[in-house]
Amino acid sequence: MRCDKTAAWCQLQQHAERFAGFDLRTAFAQDDARAQALSQSAPHVFADLSKNHTDVATEALLMELARQTGLASHRDAMFRGEAINHTEDRAVMHWLLRQPEGSLQGDLAEPLALVHGTLAPMLAYAEEVRADAQITDVVNIGIGGSDLGPQMAVLALQDFVLPGKRFHFVSNVDGHELAAVLKGLRAENTLFLIASKTFTTIETMTNARSALAWFQVQGGSDVARHFAALTTNVAAAAEFGITTTFGFWDWVGGRYSMWSAIGLPVAIAIGAQGFKDLLAGAHAMDQHFQAAPLEENVPVRLGLLDVWYRNFLNYTSRSIAPYHSALRRVPAYLQQLEMESNGKRVDRNGQALPYGTSPVLWGEPGTNGQHAYFQMLHQGTDIVPLEFIAVKKPTHSLKDHHELLLANVIAQAQALMQGKSDAGGHKHFTGNRPSTFLLLDELTPTSLGALIALQEHRVFVSGSVWGINSFDQWGVELGKVLAKNIHARIVSGDGSGLDASTAALLQRVRS
Ligand code: F6P
Repeated sequence: MRCDKTAAWCQLQQHAERFAGFDLRTAFAQDDARAQALSQSAPHVFADLSKNHTDVATEALLMELARQTGLASHRDAMFRGEAINHTEDRAVMHWLLRQPEGSLQGDLAEPLALVHGTLAPMLAYAEEVRADAQITDVVNIGIGGSDLGPQMAVLALQDFVLPGKRFHFVSNVDGHELAAVLKGLRAENTLFLIASKTFTTIETMTNARSALAWFQVQGGSDVARHFAALTTNVAAAAEFGITTTFGFWDWVGGRYSMWSAIGLPVAIAIGAQGFKDLLAGAHAMDQHFQAAPLEENVPVRLGLLDVWYRNFLNYTSRSIAPYHSALRRVPAYLQQLEMESNGKRVDRNGQALPYGTSPVLWGEPGTNGQHAYFQMLHQGTDIVPLEFIAVKKPTHSLKDHHELLLANVIAQAQALMQGKSDAGGHKHFTGNRPSTFLLLDELTPTSLGALIALQEHRVFVSGSVWGINSFDQWGVELGKVLAKNIHARIVSGDGSGLDASTAALLQRVRS
């Protein structure tokens, strides 16, 4: 049943009215068990939800909402490999990419064998490249899911990256990006990975053509050694002239694809065992999501909190603050994950929704954000729930830094909640500002895998409750079609039939 038609939705609306005077400080004062009740361990990730505008009663109602909207059966349908991405008639099986070999029977045994039949040569190739001292630079050319995941992970795991290899990520069709990277490269030392699920994306194809032309102009000839394609469209890669190809399947969504061949730059960077650890961490989170009771299920609790905030407390955005500089691309990664998945205005039957869906996601690493936009989080007119991500143990040995970093992240969560009274003037902090605190013991391939799988599943949870298809992305198509048309007009100068504003802009950029 659609969420807004359930009894739980109606109860949550009434509950939200009564909740208007909720104050975190009072909530903690009245309930000794609050910190404990609203915290939960999942594999490799500890989640403290207690500084949020929620309580045990709210969570109980949200669990009812989950039951009445069939969350568990929708989740189980995904894990059975049903075509839950119905607008593209596809299964949603990124989780299968991290499933241990031979661990499934029945219909899924064959795709799982295919997964491992592809993973093994990909990891062997990664090891070959690692051992190849002549290759010093790996350039990933891809965009969206074919860029953000591997880029985020290679950065996050920089302490595990093989010395002597540099990794570059080129995504934008803006030639300044590719040109700047090419400037520092030599053809004989470079491996280009052309990462594109479809092998049709205009940005990636344009960059790939320019990279190939550059390689040939530099005297490079061995394309098989210096170019590899990561794609579901092996035929298109072959037509392009690339014979070293690692494939995957249409049941892996682009933004869910870093576990597939799209993860090759990560495997080259951290090695076959590191990549297996990444998969194992994600698999541990898959098992938690599948098996833990809803009340003790971290992705479920986070996803339902997202629904509560968006639809009942009307918080329209979520800020992400990773307190670890290696996690600096996590906010960008999560933007695609959440907003491309849940930025939908119709339900699964194509009917316009009367309630909000995806929040706006944004953020920067701490402590940098504190000296930029945290002012607004503390004293602005809008309430923006903040999600901190912190790591207990550092991998460097510099004195004082990590204690200061951890002190800051804890102090920020505390300051947002506690506020500070100053007679209502400029120095007054209202406090009662919500935040979630995610804590990893260490940042490793395993814990990163778990953290990212947690985020995937929490996006599934809110999307499922909202009754939308979180796995298509029709909203990106119109711009692509219009860009093709405008491109032809930029070349020809033909502005006929355009609206006045677009025609004027066309004329201006051509003048
Ligand atoms: O334009 C959006 C999108 O389709 C994303 O969903 C995807 O991750 C990205 O483009 C790249 O697509 P591809 O991997 O097919 O090049």
